[in-house]
Amino acid sequence: MVYQFIETRMKNQVGIIELNRPERLNSLNRKMVSEILEALLAFESNEDIRVIVLTGNGKAFSAGADIEEMMGDNPISLELLDQFSDWDRLATIKKPIIGAVKGYVFGGGFELALSCDLLIAAAGTEFSFPEVGLGVMPGAGGTQRLTKLVGRTKALEWLWTGKRISANTALNNGIINKIVASELLMEESMKLATILASQPPISLRLIKDSVNKAIDYSLHEGMQYERKNFYLLFGTEDQKEGMSAFVEKRKPNYQGK
Ligand code: CAA
Repeated sequence: MVYQFIETRMKNQVGIIELNRPERLNSLNRKMVSEILEALLAFESNEDIRVIVLTGNGKAFSAGADIEEMMGDNPISLELLDQFSDWDRLATIKKPIIGAVKGYVFGGGFELALSCDLLIAAAGTEFSFPEVGLGVMPGAGGTQRLTKLVGRTKALEWLWTGKRISANTALNNGIINKIVASELLMEESMKLATILASQPPISLRLIKDSVNKAIDYSLHEGMQYERKNFYLLFGTEDQKEGMSAFVEKRKPNYQGK
């Protein structure tokens, strides 16, 4: 598939999506967001792909939504455009998504990163919600996802000031999983992707589903939900393979069935 603003490739069982508009710091125009969604959906339905890595070409992961594209919008054009429905669908991807980020992770780029499941950042990466400086605010989940991750006090400070957050601060606040040297970003991200690709895919899928429910559900509802997913896994061949391999003292070979 040929895209205008992204590139995709597959390596072993990993699908890689690279934002590819480096001359504009991968700022996200609408076409690019719909291409990202299209690529995610293609990997989601591709049985050969178990894990997705999302990254950016050039010095930035993404400097946010394309300001020039949206500057002439009005409430009605935005309502009719309904561009955030693409972002909603992006959050429904069930396979693990690893974000491999570097440079600027700003605005919509930060929101895209927060839509990933795990994040590896190159040393020197900076995160920010600068929308306040443009007379607006995040619109693709930034206020919601950031607050759930770091709590109200820090979220308000960062969103109100638009200040840049270092990779270390992001790590200390549970926003990212790891910081690596810039030149090792893809290598380290692929290492993690390969580990996940060797795990039973339906377990990964139902773990993601259950963890996501923990954000919205009460503890009691979440526990009930988790239980059903646990029971469901006993209907898979991979459960039989995993437990047999343990008893037979061999390495399991999961088929995702
Ligand atoms: N939209 C459109 N163009 C952008 C852009 C953006 N978000 N970010 C960078 N660019 C363009 C610049 O205009 C510039 O284009 P030209 O070469 O044609 O002048 C090119 O990319 C390179 O950028 P800079 O020269 O500015 O690079 P820099 O290294 O000096 O600065 C930066 C980098 C600090 C990230 C700066 O580009 C910047 O502040 N960008 C805007 C960041 C921002 O405000 N993002 C939030 C957008 S709103 C949003 O995301 C809403 C939402 O929630 C959905």
